[in-house]
Amino acid sequence: MLDISTAYAHTLSYNVRRTVYEQRKSLLERKEAFVGNEQRSNAGAPLVPGERLGEAPMMRAAVQYRYGPPSVLEVSEVGLPLPGRGEVLVRVSAASVHPGDYFVMTGEPYMVRLVFGLRRPRHGIPGMDLAGVVAAVGKDVTVLRPGDEVFGWSTAGALAEYACVPADNLVSIPANLSVADAAAVPTSAMTALQALRKIANVQPGQTVLVTGASGGVGSFAVQIAKAFGAEVTGVCSTRNVDLVRSLGADHVIDYTTTDFTRSDKRYDVILDNVEAQPLAAVRRALTPTGILIPNSGRGGHWFGPVGRIVKARVLSGFTRQQLKPFTSIGKRQDLLTLADLLTTGQVTPVIDRTYPLDDAADALSYVGAGHTRGKVVITV
Ligand SMILES: NC(=O)c1ccc[n+]([C@@H]2O[C@H](COP(=O)([O-])OP(=O)(O)OC[C@H]3O[C@@H](n4cnc5c(N)ncnc54)[C@H](OP(=O)(O)O)[C@@H]3O)[C@@H](O)[C@H]2O)c1
Repeated sequence: MLDISTAYAHTLSYNVRRTVYEQRKSLLERKEAFVGNEQRSNAGAPLVPGERLGEAPMMRAAVQYRYGPPSVLEVSEVGLPLPGRGEVLVRVSAASVHPGDYFVMTGEPYMVRLVFGLRRPRHGIPGMDLAGVVAAVGKDVTVLRPGDEVFGWSTAGALAEYACVPADNLVSIPANLSVADAAAVPTSAMTALQALRKIANVQPGQTVLVTGASGGVGSFAVQIAKAFGAEVTGVCSTRNVDLVRSLGADHVIDYTTTDFTRSDKRYDVILDNVEAQPLAAVRRALTPTGILIPNSGRGGHWFGPVGRIVKARVLSGFTRQQLKPFTSIGKRQDLLTLADLLTTGQVTPVIDRTYPLDDAADALSYVGAGHTRGKVVITV
C-alpha cells in the first residue's frame, strides 16, 4: 500500500516531469518561437551545479563542474539550450569522443585551460562530434530545416540530448550511413583529410606511411590516402593487422615486431599519429624531400606536444625535408568532401565500441587509454 507521503512525492515528481515534458514539447512544436525571434542562445553558458535555467525545459547531458578524471562526469538534467542567430538545435542521436575530448575533460595539458576555462570548464558538457535531427532553427538559418538529419561538430558540448550548433558546422548525413557512423566522422576524419590534402598534398603514386593506423585518425587516413591514389603503409599492433589491411593498406607493419624507422624503405609522406620514435629516427624513413606530419597530441602535463612541435618547426628550416605539425580546423567544405567519400564507399568509419550516454565516463576512460580501434561512439 502506498502511504500518503510516498503518494504525494510520486504525484509531485510526476507533475515536475510532466511540466518539463510539456515545456519541451511545446517549445519544439512552436519552432517559430526560434525562427525570426531575437532570442539569444544560451549555448555554451557556464554550468553551475544544481542550476536550473528559470522556466526553461530541461535535457539530460553528461556534465562536469571541474577538470579531472572521467569520474568527474555525471549525467544530469540541465537547461535546454536555445539556438541563436545562425544556429540550429540538434536532437542528438549519437556523438563520438576522441583524445582531444579527454584532454579537455582532464584539463591536461594545463594549457588547454587557457581556451576552455582557467579554473573549471567553461561549457561543462564534453564532446564535439555529433549526428542527429534538426529540432529547431535560429534566425538567419536558411540551409537547414527541422527534420533534417545532420552530422558535424559542436563548440558547446555534444554529450547531451540536444546541442546548439552553428548551421555552418553541419551537413546532411549520407543516405548509406547510420547516425552512429556519421557521428564517428567529423574531427578524426577532418584531421586525416587536412593532413593528407592541405598539409601534404598527397598525389597518386606517392608512398604514404600512417602510424596509429588502427586509431580514430589513422583508420580514416589509411582510407583517404588510398582514395587519393597513394601506396599506403599502415603501422599498428598485431591485433589490428587484419583491420588495417581491410581498410585498404597496401602494406602493414606490426610495430611489436618491426621498427619502420630501421628499414631501408623511404616514404614521401609520413603521418605520425603516435610519435613513439624520436624525430631523427622517423626522418630517416622519409625521402630527402619528404613531408613528415608529427600529429600526436600527447606530451607533458603543462604544454603537451608543444615542445615537439617547436622542435619540428625549427628543424624544418635546416633540411629539405618538410616537418609540418598542424592543428586541424573544423571546415564545412571538408565535411562535404568527406560526405562524398562516405557516399561512394571510399571511406567507411570503423566503430570500436558504443556506449549509452549514462556510461560517458567509461567511454572517455577507454579513449584516454589510447588503444582505440577506430572510433568510440556514444548513443543518446
Ligand atoms: N593535429 C590535430 O589537430 C589533431 C586532431 C585530432 C587528433 N590529433 C592527435 O592524433 C593522435 C591520434 O588520435 P586518434 O584519435 O587516432 O587516437 P586513438 O584513436 O587513441 O588511436 C591511437 C592508435 O594508435 C595505436 N598505437 C599505439 N601505439 C602505437 C605505435 N607505437 N605504433 C602504431 N600505432 C600505435 C593504438 O592501438 P594499439 O595501442 O592497440 O596499438 C590506437 O589504435 C592523438 O594523439 C591526437 O591527439 C591531432
